[in-house]
Amino acid sequence: MTSQTPGFPLPGPALPDPASGTPEVNPDAPERHGPLSFDGIRELDSNPPRVWTVFYVTTLLASLWVLVAYPSIPWLSHGGEQGRAGLLGWSARATLRDDAGRATAQEPAIQARFEQASYAEIEADPALRSFGIAAGTAAFGTQCAACHGRDGQGQAGFPSLRDRDWLWGGTPEAIERTVQVGIRWPGNEETRSSQMPAFGQLGILERPQILDMVQYVWSLSGTPHDAAAAARAAPVFAENCVACHGERGEGNQVVGAPNLRDAVWLHGGSRDQVYQTIHAPHSGVMPAFGGRLPADAIRKLVVYVRSFGGGE
Ligand code: HEC
Ligand code: HEC
Repeated sequence: MTSQTPGFPLPGPALPDPASGTPEVNPDAPERHGPLSFDGIRELDSNPPRVWTVFYVTTLLASLWVLVAYPSIPWLSHGGEQGRAGLLGWSARATLRDDAGRATAQEPAIQARFEQASYAEIEADPALRSFGIAAGTAAFGTQCAACHGRDGQGQAGFPSLRDRDWLWGGTPEAIERTVQVGIRWPGNEETRSSQMPAFGQLGILERPQILDMVQYVWSLSGTPHDAAAAARAAPVFAENCVACHGERGEGNQVVGAPNLRDAVWLHGGSRDQVYQTIHAPHSGVMPAFGGRLPADAIRKLVVYVRSFGGGE
């Protein structure tokens, strides 16, 4: 019998014929077990690298140390108040009991303080503030992030909660109210509500008047615009828009009318987008969370939203 199967030539040097009785000499292989080649594969017995052996012995000793030092084998460890403890007297049960004791000793105290504190007190007290922020962060991720973005940065149609540009107000009380009652939310009678008329759709303004009005709206925020067109629209603005957006377009938080003097656009600042807003406004809708979240959870959300630093 030869070691190479006919039809399947193996790469590498030819193998010695086991039958010839001339084993290969390998200085690292003091003993040879088994045949020189098996199924066409050359067998070479070598000792494992020294570092392996050292590592193996070390881990073996370490495991023996852990076995006696920590609770592992019931009749090797001594009993007592701590339970089965090992030489070091360590016990998972005692550690857990200590941790749980510490947590329950602290938790109700800070929760009770949070419930009683006003927003001003919470924001002045670092411990209360970070307690609220921690809980608010989690709730924001599940309840608010889908619309307002992971970090409250907003997206088209959904306002950023990080800037000073508040539609309905940025005081803690105003934010709490917005979250409680929602905005144009049909399920809540007290919901924040206002409706900018669809000036184009209702035929109040003609297309050329709306095109002029876009230029006027741009002029308010110092955006490059056609001054002649803006001048034509000025009296139309005074007649139709100041009631909500204010004399100078500064906005009004009572009716959620955006400030038109900053270049922050809720529904986009391009010609087509501003045209569309005046033609038929979007009127954003936000759900009321009053019935859905406990008042305490809403307060924590408010503290978290305030921590974005938008101010009032
Ligand atoms: C379904 C989408 C949606 C969800 C969910 C949502 N919001 Fe809103 N939110 C809106 C929209 C749209 C507006 C702006 C409405 C408008 O145009 O006046 C808004 C406005 C706000 C405002 C007022 C911003 C301002 O400038 O005055 C606050 C504060 C706010 N949301 C906080 C939250 C918080 C906190 C949550 C989670 C508990 C949340 N929102 C969940 C859609 C949503
Ligand atoms: C009844 C109050 C009301 C009147 C009147 C009104 N608006 Fe508005 N306007 C709003 C509200 C509320 C919004 C925000 C809509 C939303 O939240 O989706 C808004 C939004 C806008 C926006 C979008 C701003 C942005 O950041 O994207 C523009 C532009 C605008 N109005 C222009 C006008 C002009 C021009 C007129 C007059 C022709 C006018 N509005 C009249 C209430 C009003």
